[in-house]
Amino acid sequence: MGRLNGKVALITGAASGQGAVEAELFAREGAKVAVADINESGVAAVVDRIQQAGGEAIGITLNVADEAAWAAGMNKIRDTFGGLDVQVNNAGILSLEGISKIDMAEWDRVIRVNQTSVFLGLKHGTALMQATGRGGSIINLTSTYAHLGSGGAVAYQASKAAVYVMTRTAAVEFAPDNIRVNSVAPGLLETPMTREVLAESGASHPDITRTPLQRAGQPHEVANAVLFLASDEASYITGTELFVDGGRTIT
Ligand SMILES: NC(=O)c1ccc[n+]([C@@H]2O[C@H](COP(=O)([O-])OP(=O)(O)OC[C@H]3O[C@@H](n4cnc5c(N)ncnc54)[C@H](O)[C@@H]3O)[C@@H](O)[C@H]2O)c1
Repeated sequence: MGRLNGKVALITGAASGQGAVEAELFAREGAKVAVADINESGVAAVVDRIQQAGGEAIGITLNVADEAAWAAGMNKIRDTFGGLDVQVNNAGILSLEGISKIDMAEWDRVIRVNQTSVFLGLKHGTALMQATGRGGSIINLTSTYAHLGSGGAVAYQASKAAVYVMTRTAAVEFAPDNIRVNSVAPGLLETPMTREVLAESGASHPDITRTPLQRAGQPHEVANAVLFLASDEASYITGTELFVDGGRTIT
């Protein structure tokens, strides 16, 4: 308890899946949490759960692909909490089409929501952290699919690989402000994002059979890794990628 005492944290895509688990975990650890998503009712439910448990949270309707929404969201955080210390760029969408099937509209949608969003998040988040003047920690969600070939999911994989590289670039650019920038790369998780995929293939999914721990991960197992990087326990860690994948990338 108290690993984020005194910190203000923004989590995108926080209405469901890992983002929601992280928002509630961060609040239990003492952070004031900005719960951001395009899903307004989901945001309200997470904020309510945090407040019912005695934590502090506000909800922000934030489409991560929209720069004006980022600017408005940062203003709301500054006006409500006075600054920003931690940002988790977690919002994302899955697309499984390969090169021969995907059309331009789908490519553009995935790149905007998964990749351009993180560029915008880095731009606006670091500006508020610099103004706050306490340093900071940013965690970007990538994926084992930033590193593995799957034979499909070309836009998703390209977007996550770009986030991996932007993480390293940002870590160097913002080190003089003591803003650390890291990424977490989950393997296959049981969340709403993968509900259909797991319903179809179950334990025979290649990302389970090729995973040494032989199972999908749970959102709290990623949230714990994100919490570590968010906290001052990770004060000398920047520009790194932490795999939370049951060993998937070592096989
Ligand atoms: N589930 C997995 O197996 C897995 C594996 C590796 C990486 N990831 C990554 O983890 C992150 C979280 O995924 P999850 O599994 O919790 O998925 P999820 O679908 O449960 O949650 C994603 C959240 O992002 C929100 N979102 C979507 N588009 C948005 C937008 N334009 N603006 C703001 N919010 C938006 C959704 O409303 C949803 O609440 C994603 O970046 C995903 O790519 C997931």
